[in-house]
Amino acid sequence: MSKYAGRWETVKVDIENSIGWITLNRPEKRNAMSPTLNREMIDVLETLELDEEAQVIVLTGAGDSWTAGMDLKEYFRENDGKPEIFQERLRRDCSQWQWKLLRMYSKPTIAMVNGWCFGGAFSPLVACDLAIAADEAVFGLSEINWGIPPGNLVSKAVADTMGHRQALHYIMTGDTFTGQEAAAMGLVNKSVPRAELRDHVLALADKLLEKSPTVLRIAKNGFKRCRELNWDQNEDYLYAKVDQSNYRDPEKGRAQGLKQFLDDKTIKPGLQTYKRG
Ligand code: COA
Repeated sequence: MSKYAGRWETVKVDIENSIGWITLNRPEKRNAMSPTLNREMIDVLETLELDEEAQVIVLTGAGDSWTAGMDLKEYFRENDGKPEIFQERLRRDCSQWQWKLLRMYSKPTIAMVNGWCFGGAFSPLVACDLAIAADEAVFGLSEINWGIPPGNLVSKAVADTMGHRQALHYIMTGDTFTGQEAAAMGLVNKSVPRAELRDHVLALADKLLEKSPTVLRIAKNGFKRCRELNWDQNEDYLYAKVDQSNYRDPEKGRAQGLKQFLDDKTIKPGLQTYKRG
């Protein structure tokens, strides 16, 4: 039994073979993100960040949905008319896990999109480092269909991943698209038949587990921040990241990699990772 069994009401967490599986767990509500779920996800992410048993994180949903977006009842309607400060707090909880924690998370993250993926779901989807979808998954920027523009940072998330014309088309029409279309436009890395989804995610997670966690963290977070800096700023910033990596990496991967290629001739870095440990 998972050591986290029963700890959260709306989220299930299991750790298997160094992979932390986070499952949004309100299948009867298509895993819609309620205020409770948002608050719990902050705790889940903060807890797993310090849990050394979980080295790679997979975010998925229970049942036939990844998440149907923000909970229209518990997040929106039930809070209409509440004091502004209360509503601000609910928004802050959303941002806190959906992209602030997730986007620069210290461990690699994979979104495993098993089904419905609507509206607010796009923030955590894009904030995960990598994403694999089921061909059968259905995506939609459905906000326009119920009368609001995309909320939280959904517009920013799709602007960063989908391309100008595609993003505007889906924002303005609310049309749905499939996992394969999401892969073709770069919103997810790839799309596979749902029956094979878990195996593809496992293979990707295993590949990440072969790398130095420190170098991975610095590489992915460096890439994400560098998008917002100009070339001169990046020269300074990205070299600082390289130096940080050399200094911080406890397993001294750089030295091992160079030795295994140049001296031992046991690896070809173009084709494989250095042997850790
Ligand atoms: N917020 C609140 N409740 C939601 C929800 C959401 N985003 N998405 C689904 N639910 C609830 C439904 O109200 C229903 O509750 P009930 O059983 O108490 O009536 C239950 O989940 C099942 O939903 P249902 O619509 O019957 O499931 P479905 O499988 O036929 O359709 C969806 C699935 C995802 C296509 C449909 O539920 C939907 O369109 N949801 C809204 C998606 C959306 O626009 N999200 C954007 C929010 S920003």
